[in-house]
Amino acid sequence: MRVLVITGAGVSAESGIPTFRGKGGYWRNLDPAKLATPEAFARDPELVWQWYGERRERIRAAQPNAAHHAIAKLARHAADFLLVTQNVDDLHARAGLPNEKMVQIHGDIFVTRCSRCEFERHDYEHGQENVLPRCPKCNALMRPGVVWFGEQLPWSEAQRVEKFLSRGACDVVIVVGTTATFGYIIDWALRASCGGELIEVNPEETPLSQFATRLVREPAAIAVPRIIDELIDSRSSKL
Ligand code: OAD
Repeated sequence: MRVLVITGAGVSAESGIPTFRGKGGYWRNLDPAKLATPEAFARDPELVWQWYGERRERIRAAQPNAAHHAIAKLARHAADFLLVTQNVDDLHARAGLPNEKMVQIHGDIFVTRCSRCEFERHDYEHGQENVLPRCPKCNALMRPGVVWFGEQLPWSEAQRVEKFLSRGACDVVIVVGTTATFGYIIDWALRASCGGELIEVNPEETPLSQFATRLVREPAAIAVPRIIDELIDSRSSKL
């Protein structure tokens, strides 16, 4: 079984991480879509770091939910598997999904990188967020290692997705908890599912819904474990 899973903020909603565009997405009355930009960082880096600092804390305190665990289980059962997540949290990894089966296409919130040179470090530990970090190599401001609106996707990570797609169509594509705002998300889901099953798990309609072969309008932590158990059972009964 060849499987592609694509996740967005909705898969972490039941772990208590607010989605970008849903209720609770606003922070101090500010729209995350306006904070997660190079312009916001240039204007007020302290404010942007405060927002990311609070998000880091919230993510550290959160636990993976049943959907993250089910996706990790599917990865162990499928012969060929890739998860593409737009989430910068580490909940898929903490549910046991190995790095080589996962692409974090919008980066990793716990990475802090230089806004000018190549220097970067992993800042999982608490306590870095209250000061404006500066690069130890070139003294420029450090920034979160995430992709902001209007920025290029990390080339090597996009290449990993392309490589997976170039190996042929998938038997199943599952898209969970994303508004599918970005064209590349729709493109990857359609190219991977070509002729196969495309399952969308999302309580709301999205631009991808019209292409889905199965729509599941339920929260991820309820629907995803059930769908994945059904998939694993149906495939093992065919063996
Ligand atoms: P959004 O906040 O745009 O969308 C969250 C989606 O999850 C919506 O479609 C909801 O209907 C759905 N949802 C909410 N609760 C759910 C639940 N319990 N189970 C399943 N689905 C649920 O988040 P994304 O689509 O991930 O990018 O946003 C994509 C990107 O836009 C983010 O990675 C970020 C953002 O700006 C960058 O920062 C570049």
